[in-house]
This record gives sequence, C-alpha cells and structure tokens, in this order.
Amino acid sequence: MISAQEFIARQDRLLAQCQPKSVCIIPAASTVTRSRDTEYTFRQNSDFWYLTGFEEPNAWLILSNHPRYGESYRAMVVQPKDKSAEIWHGKRLGAEAALSRFSLDEAFELQELEEALLESLQGQDNVYFALGQVDAHDKLFTQAITTLREAPKESLAPKAIHDVSPLLHEMRLFKSACEIATMKAAAEISARAHARAMQFAKPGCYEYQLEAEIHHEFAMAGARSPAYSSIVGSGSNACILHYTENNAQVSDGDLVLIDAGAEYQGYAADITRTFPVNGKFSKAQRDIYSVVLRAQKAVLDALAPGVTLSEMMVLSTEIITEGLVELGILEGSVADNLEQENWRHFYMHGLGHFIGLDVHDVGNYKIDGEDRPLKPGMVITVEPGVYISDDSDVPEMYKGIGVRIEDDVVITATGVDILTADVPKEIDEIETLMRK
Ligand code: GLY
Ligand code: MN
Ligand code: MN
Repeated sequence: MISAQEFIARQDRLLAQCQPKSVCIIPAASTVTRSRDTEYTFRQNSDFWYLTGFEEPNAWLILSNHPRYGESYRAMVVQPKDKSAEIWHGKRLGAEAALSRFSLDEAFELQELEEALLESLQGQDNVYFALGQVDAHDKLFTQAITTLREAPKESLAPKAIHDVSPLLHEMRLFKSACEIATMKAAAEISARAHARAMQFAKPGCYEYQLEAEIHHEFAMAGARSPAYSSIVGSGSNACILHYTENNAQVSDGDLVLIDAGAEYQGYAADITRTFPVNGKFSKAQRDIYSVVLRAQKAVLDALAPGVTLSEMMVLSTEIITEGLVELGILEGSVADNLEQENWRHFYMHGLGHFIGLDVHDVGNYKIDGEDRPLKPGMVITVEPGVYISDDSDVPEMYKGIGVRIEDDVVITATGVDILTADVPKEIDEIETLMRK
C-alpha cells in the first residue's frame, strides 16, 4: 500500500521541477459506457493515481508553487456528495473529507470546476497540463485559458503552457521501494495464477477455461482486473502475438502460450509461460523452447545498470539465431543470418518494455536519440520469443510452434531482481509441476 506521505512527496517532487510561478493540472479518468446503462469497469488514470491514490472518477488535482499560496498549494475538485447517486453507484468521498485525506489547501465540488481552474490559472507564469489526451479535458482547460485571455483579465492569463507528462513520466520510470513491493505482490499473484493454469491444463480443455483459472487466482487475491487482456493461445494460436479470442479447444500434443498478468493496487505484472498441455514437451517443442529459454536467461544474467535494452535485444537475437541455425530452421551461417536479420521472421517483437502502473509503462527509451542505459529502480520485462507459423518454410516438426517466456525484473545496483521467479520455466520444473 502506498502511504499518504508518499503521494504528497510525489506531488512535491513534481512541483519542485516546475518553473517558478507554476500550476500543474492533472485530471482523473471518467467512466466509459460499455452498453446501455452499463459501464466498463472504472480504471483510474495512471498519472492521477500516481499522484493521489484516489479511486474516484471525474476529479482534478491542482498543484501550484506560486508564492501567493506560501510554500505550495494543493487542491482537488471532486464529485459532490449526492444521496441518490451514492445509492445507485456507490459512496463518494466528497470535498470535505477530501481536504483531510489528501492534505489539501482547498477542495471544490465538480460544479465549481470552471471557477477553480480560472482561479488557479490566473497570474501564473507557467501551466503544466497534458494536452491531447482527453478531448473533454482539453476543452475545459482551453476554455479557461481563453477566458483569461479576454479583456479585462488578459494580464492574468498564464504566459506559457508546458506538457506535464515528461516530468511525471520520468518520475514514474523509477520505482520506489513501496512501488516495487506492490509490483512484487502483483507478480506473485500472477505467478500463482500461471502455476494454477498449468496444473489445470489437460488435452481437450478450452483456452477460455485456462483463462478462467488465471482470472480466478487474480480475483481471489484481490486483483479484480488483469493488467491487459489475457492471451491464451494453444497450438499455432501462440504465433498470433496479441491473440485474445481464447476460444479454441486445446489438442493433445499442443503447446499453450499464456501471457497474463494481474493488476494489483494499480500496478501491473506481465508474465508469459509456454507449456505442453499434456505435461510433456515433444522433441521439437523442447528444441524451440530451449533456444528461447537460453536467450531469456542470458539476458537476465547480462542485465545490470549501464546496459541498454537495445544491447540486450542484440544479445537475444544472437542466441536465437544460433539456436535456429543449429536446428536447421535458418540456413547458412550464424553471421550471415544475423547480418540479414533473418531472426525477424520468427522473433517479431522487442525484447521488453518498462512496466509499472501501465503494463507498457511510461518513460523514454532514448535520450537525445541515444539508447538509454538502464538504472536501478527501473522495472522492465524480458520476453524473447520464437513463433513458427504453419506456413513457414522450415522442417515440418517445427511448424505451428510458438514460444515466449516473459519475466518482470527490477534493475538493482548489481543486476536484477526477478519479480516473477515463482512460476517455473525450466522444462523439468514445468513437467514436474504438471504431473502433480
Ligand atoms: N502482454 C503484453 C506484453 O507482453 O507486452
Ligand atoms: Mn506479456
Ligand atoms: Mn510484456
């Protein structure tokens, strides 16, 4: 659980990076209609959540370092208490309780939003706002700016408008101890879910049944939503990178690729495991799996502060190319195949990505056009794969095999801490677990 103090400290760190006489304006997410009278499960905006931990929709956070407020100013606009709305849709915190919960200088109700925006914007030299994300928010924001630019208030209009995202996203890229503990919890729940699916799997089961086992384990641990649509691909469905139909029956002899992670207290896990539905890898499956596992483990061993994701990608392509040449899937020399980047026919995605509140988390991969060295506190996925579609020109026994192995790791001072180590990935470990 992230403490109230940590949220305040994040707000202060954001403000400290702003120019003097600045205001930051950060809106929450709104609910979205799914079908008549029903809404998609509400998901808070990650930036807003990062700064507040507030779970209600339609709120706005306003922070300022303008000297007129003294040290600093924090205010929130929240949905008003409303008996009928609360009977139908659930309790609301309300402005009064928000004051103390978030240590605010002022709290406003949603119907006062326009006024609160005008007041906080006027007389500022700089405004930080993420334009271009939500049309309705852009409209409210620009309306307030336009109003301030009109006579007789024109001298009060803010002088410069900046994107708040780069500041916030650089902060989000480096996880605190508390965030890492929360991500570890998300990872452990997800690891248990994968192990559960492996134990449930048997020839003739359906992909959606494996998905249900995964989601059951998530929900029983209080992680009511997956961090992204779960992928359960059996046989050659594993070669569809973002397969989410999850409706096929799993045949004896198939591999199953499951890419699923829980969202826990806002933070994502992202795990992929690939296993034989009948509990025993065939020779061909073992061949491909071993190549991917070798690449994944080599990257995990090499990861440390100072290396770049691109360097790790190259390492994984070298090992995968060597393996595919050895198996006769790629013809010619390793060097020529690397030169021609032939691995791209079988390994079509990147090695990994930042992960945090968003599964594909924020943060720049490059600085001034150069690959960014990894640093302690960053959390990334490591997820090489090999996918051999049915129509590939390769030895018959390898057709239709798709393998990905994905773990989430924190970069530490000396290497990595693997958050998702609890779910087996060695061939004999998987086979042993599935026999249980
Ligand atoms: N589950 C999405 C990904 O692995 O990036
Ligand atoms: Mn994944
Ligand atoms: Mn991933």
